Amino acid sequence: MIFVCIGCGTVGRAWAIVFARAGHAVRLYDSNPGFARDEALPAMKASLTDLDLAEPVADIMVRFTVCEDIASAVSGADWVQESVREDLPLKQAVIAEIAGVAPADAIVASSTSALPGSLFLNDIPSPARAMVAHPVNPPSHIPLVELCGTGLTSDASMERARATLIALGQDPITVNKEIDGFILNRLQYVMFAEAMHLVGEGYCSAEDVDKVITSGLALRWASIGPFMTAHLNAAHGFAGFVEQLGPMMKKMGTDAVTDYDWGPELVQKIHCAMEALVPVGNIPEAQRWRDARILATRASQEPVGGISPKLE
Ligand SMILES: NC(=O)c1ccc[n+]([C@@H]2O[C@H](COP(=O)([O-])OP(=O)(O)OC[C@H]3O[C@@H](n4cnc5c(N)ncnc54)[C@H](O)[C@@H]3O)[C@@H](O)[C@H]2O)c1
Repeated sequence: MIFVCIGCGTVGRAWAIVFARAGHAVRLYDSNPGFARDEALPAMKASLTDLDLAEPVADIMVRFTVCEDIASAVSGADWVQESVREDLPLKQAVIAEIAGVAPADAIVASSTSALPGSLFLNDIPSPARAMVAHPVNPPSHIPLVELCGTGLTSDASMERARATLIALGQDPITVNKEIDGFILNRLQYVMFAEAMHLVGEGYCSAEDVDKVITSGLALRWASIGPFMTAHLNAAHGFAGFVEQLGPMMKKMGTDAVTDYDWGPELVQKIHCAMEALVPVGNIPEAQRWRDARILATRASQEPVGGISPKLE
């Protein structure tokens, strides 16, 4: 199959790795002249080296072709993944250009983090092939992809996209109805907003918020989500847990300050706390460390003995 990455920044280049390591030809186009060749390709080579795959990196790298424009990139394509900046007019223009020249049956997928696809994927030729395929950064390391149709996306395209992602080694879910931010970012940013409130009002430090996740919640969440956590935390399962703790849980929901008005001082305070751990100049190195830890975490998700095979 021929996969195309339009936009080769943080997310586009990680998608390119997903497609190429599964054996497919990948065309790259970025409007910033020279960026795909001089920035994205070397970064992809380094990332592939760190992934330590069975196949030699050089054999994977030959699958990438840098293209000079969208028309040559999408000609004959099976799947076009748009990963340009999160900017609605830009996405409308880029998708219109892609859809005007891509084969009528090519999947046209957007990486948008929060924009409903119907705002920029419907007013194009053959809108039945277009959808949001929202990855988690970097998709080369994290398999979840949120698939969300636009109302005009056909069931056949959704099914084809789903099957293709599974064949690529990703783990798609379906968002049944459009909603800003889909599922992951809604959950993530509600928690982020409350964390800003907790730090802003002095309930704990920024470092301790992160520790609550890495030494607490995330250790469960790498294996079970919040619903299964509740199910396993009570003798009578989920319903019993909710019966016992539901009122307290609802109160946390109503007490949470999700519209906390954080200002520049709080942002600077948390920035300084993060900088003390990872100076901004060390972010690329820390990203490599993060990606190695993600791979180690995924290795720990291996079956541990078949006691609950449906969870493994
Ligand atoms: N970074 C994340 O954590 C993350 C996670 C999931 C989804 N996303 C989404 O993925 C998309 C891309 O995000 P990113 O973080 O990779 O952004 P980025 O700024 O790192 O990369 C965007 C790239 O698109 C290129 N570009 C801009 N206009 C273009 C055009 N007309 N044609 C071709 N290329 C063009 C830019 O030169 C740049 O290299 C956004 O919609 C974002 O919301 C980001």
